[in-house]
Amino acid sequence: MQTSISFLSSAYSFEKTIELINASKADFIHVDVMDGLFVPNVTNFTKEKLELLRKSPKPKEVHLMTLHLKKYIDIFSLLNPEMLIYEFEATTNHLKVIRAIKEKKMKVGIAIGPLTDLELLVPFLNKIDLVLVMGVIPGSGGQEFLKETIDRVNRLYTLRKEKKLNFLISVDGGINDRTIQPIKEQLDRVVTGSYVCKSVNFQEQIEKLIQ
Ligand code: DX5
Ligand code: ZN
Repeated sequence: MQTSISFLSSAYSFEKTIELINASKADFIHVDVMDGLFVPNVTNFTKEKLELLRKSPKPKEVHLMTLHLKKYIDIFSLLNPEMLIYEFEATTNHLKVIRAIKEKKMKVGIAIGPLTDLELLVPFLNKIDLVLVMGVIPGSGGQEFLKETIDRVNRLYTLRKEKKLNFLISVDGGINDRTIQPIKEQLDRVVTGSYVCKSVNFQEQIEKLIQ
């Protein structure tokens, strides 16, 4: 299972957190972007922060929790992320958004909130590279994992098999070495934030998560 680390809630400064993620064996840096519209919180990316992320040797996945997707796709494509993930609920024109991401030569991920019917994803599953099942209501780090997420991950896993598709399944929000247990076998990738970034040893936490 691949690991992707969200630096949103950390015990360390931004710079130190990125340094510690870089020094770990995590597969990705998960860049959460919030606009104060789609979610109440706002993330503030200064030029310096963007530059530090761009220079990190880790591949990046950008998770847009925003409206105005075209604008944010343009801005965050400058980080050269491997993948751009947007929230399913942020648009009604998925084909247009998927095309805009692919035009920038990035893989496409769709995040789906805990209250949205999973079946709505079906028409788009053959066009995307990853589904990010939200384990919390998007908007902040350090929230408690919603148990309904277990059934949702299982349903997506079955759907993928039935339709003979090959998108990756990932989960984001409330993940720790306990909450991951019931879905471990179904996941290709896992996003984790405070469980790693509020610890004293990032690599040890990552190993506990995926062992
Ligand atoms: C939630 C964000 C997550 C979050 C993960 O809205 O998309 O990436 O920061 O943090 P933890 O693992 O602390 O829930
Ligand atoms: Zn996220």
